[in-house]
Order: sequence, then C-alpha cells, then structure tokens
Amino acid sequence: MTILDILAKRRDGQEHAAEELRFLARGAASGEIPDYQLAAWLMAAYLRPLSRRETADLTLALAESGRRFDLSDLPGPLLDKHSTGGVGDKTSLVLLPLLAACGVTMVKLSGRGLGITGGTLDKIESIPGFRTSLTLEEAKEQARRIGLALCGQTPDLAPADGVLYALRDVTATVGSVPLIVSSILSKKLAGGSPRVLLDVKCGSGAFRRTLPEAEELAVALREVGEQIGLQATPLVTDMDQPLGRAVGNALEVCEALEVLQGAVDNRFGGFCLRLAQRALSLCGLDADLARRAIASGSAWDKALRWIEAQGGDLAALRNGAGLPSAPETAEVPCGAEGWVERVDARTVGAVAMRLGAGRLHKSDRIDPRVGVEVLVEVGDRVETGQPAFRVHAATVADAEKAAGDLREALKVVPSPVPRTPTVLLEP
Ligand code: URA
Repeated sequence: MTILDILAKRRDGQEHAAEELRFLARGAASGEIPDYQLAAWLMAAYLRPLSRRETADLTLALAESGRRFDLSDLPGPLLDKHSTGGVGDKTSLVLLPLLAACGVTMVKLSGRGLGITGGTLDKIESIPGFRTSLTLEEAKEQARRIGLALCGQTPDLAPADGVLYALRDVTATVGSVPLIVSSILSKKLAGGSPRVLLDVKCGSGAFRRTLPEAEELAVALREVGEQIGLQATPLVTDMDQPLGRAVGNALEVCEALEVLQGAVDNRFGGFCLRLAQRALSLCGLDADLARRAIASGSAWDKALRWIEAQGGDLAALRNGAGLPSAPETAEVPCGAEGWVERVDARTVGAVAMRLGAGRLHKSDRIDPRVGVEVLVEVGDRVETGQPAFRVHAATVADAEKAAGDLREALKVVPSPVPRTPTVLLEP
C-alpha cells in the first residue's frame, strides 16, 4: 500500500479499507506522510465525503495513533462531555462538579479557545493558581479521590488528529461532517470514558449555523459512536444568542460558580440542569439528583474541593475579590423600547475576542479580566435607555470601541417576541 494508492482511491470516490485509514493515521502521526499529501487527501475527503463505515474506521485509526487512556478501574459511572463550541459556553464548569456530586466520575480533557468561541481551560485558569497541566495519571488519581479532573489535551492523545486538524484549518476542509465526527470522537475514545454527552451548538455563534446542519452533525456523532462502541448522546442547543449573562473568562467563571451556589432559575442555570439531568439518565442515575445536589450545597462543596485539588486559591474565591477584574466598564443602552428579537452571539463573541477574551491566533494571550455582560435576552420587554450590555475592558478606548460595536448585536422590535428554547433537538 502506498499513499499514492490511497489518494487515488479517494479522488475516484472508492471506499477505503480500514487498513488504509490506519496507514494514513499512522503516517500522519509519525510524520512519514508529508503535509502536502495529507492536505490532498483532506481535500479529496471533503469533496467525496467518507461513508459512515469509513468514518468509524478513521475514528478508530485516529484514536489508535496515540495513547488510549484506560479509566475502567475508576469507580462510578464514567462520563465525558463535549461542546462543539459557543459564545459564553461555560457549561462544563458547572457540569463537572455538579455531576461528580451526583456520583458520576468525570475526567475531562479540554482545549483552549480559538476565534469567537472560548475554551474551558482558559476560563478556569482565571482562578488564581488553578493548574490544568495535570498528567493523565494525576488526572486519574484525582478523579479516583474526588470524582473529577480537568486537564489539557495531551499531545500523545490521538496525535494524528492534531496533525490533520491543523491542516484542515489551513486548507478550507474543517467543515466536512465525517472529518469533524472522526476528530471529535477519536479524542473522546482515546480519553477513556465509555459514554459522552455531546452539546452540538447551533446558530450564529457556532460553526453549525442552521438546524439541519447541526442535526446532521448530531446524528452522525451518535451513529458513528454506536459503531465504535462509544455511547455518544448528542443534544442540539441554541447558540444564536450567547449562553447566559457572561462572555469572557473570569466573568464566566463567576456565573458558573453562582449556578453551583443555587442560581438555577435563569436561562443558563436551567440549561445546566437540563444537561445534567440528561447526563444522569445516560449514566442510569436518578435525573433529579442534579437539582438536589445544588439545593443541598453538595455541588458547591464538590466545586470547592475540585478547585483546591487543582491548586486554585480558595481564599480568593470565597471573599469574592479573588477573580481578576477589568479596570474599565461601559454600558450599552437599548436604543428603543419594545421586545428583544435578537442578541447576536457572533457579534458579542467577536467583540469579546477583540477586547482580549479570546484568540485570533493560537499564540495570542488571553486577558482573563475582560468581556461582555449580556443583560437582556431574546423575548425580554425593554425600555429605552435600559442597559443591554456591560463591557469590561482594559482601557477606556477599548471599552468605547466595544460599546459601539455591540449596538450591532441588539435588535429591539415593537411587538412581543417569544423566548427561544435552549435545547433545540435531542436527535
Ligand atoms: N472540534 C474538534 O475537535 N474537531 C473538529 O473537527 C471540529 C471541532
């Protein structure tokens, strides 16, 4: 077998055998197949999409290109959670301690943010001292002790995906469903949990903008999961407006901690409970445990144990002044009275990124202090002059520019607008 045979097969739309996909993944991970041939294969695979069977085989091949993590000796039902990325999506920060408080064991390997979507690692690192550079062994040991661990994706986990993903990014081939599915599920498979809750975001702030696009991805994730022995449960959720009030790293941590302390009667808190309930049923546990864990304070206790275990400064958190905060703030008022029809997630995400909350390039530094508070939701009745956004910025000039740009994100109309659900589909 040569890479040329594999390239010609894909070009001509013939099916790959599993062994060919293993050859490709091994060659990508070892560097034996050069980037130009991998890039040619990616473009051919984009134009001639892989079948479900090929996608499953590619997923297995990518997972096997590196280390597969064995968590099977950990107690409790094991669960992983993945979001395809959105604006203000701090759900993992709530779900990890909440589900651990309910008896689920979670070892989550997370990424950093790029573009308008934030990364869980960047968010949690706004807690002073919090360490995400755990080895897999440390993460496992911590999960055995307290039920959860969060750490960065290690390079030895599905390394072939790392190579292919970087090439997809620069060859306009990110958007292929089979390539997305194999990329996401290979890392989940290598991460060692037998079940994964997949939050497929849909809307202007997500990379799947329409419901049919998001549904196509969700169904493919579930079906390929079944074929590779991973119980992948997708939900399609709204990302047309930002998720919750906070967009920006420290601001989002604050909002997540508030939910863990009982603030669930709001759009974001309700969303977290809904996902937690789905996750608990997936694990064969009583779905109502989530609500009880928040009400009893056990979810909050678990969050404190978790933050302490990973080196976070609890004293700073407890007195409320420990998270970094921006020196400048500015409010953006509603320009008219009426009902909020649109709070555009993409625009808010882009403003937050330009303030320094996200990265345009992988090497950019994050400013944990900055971001946007979204003070209105679709369906709200608003008065002229009522604040719609609060900008948190490093300088007055940044605050003013962001406030100006945010006006584009809001649309107020004269007649009532229905509220939009957070969970759009459970395919
Ligand atoms: N997330 C991934 O890990 N891979 C993709 O291809 C898309 C989103």
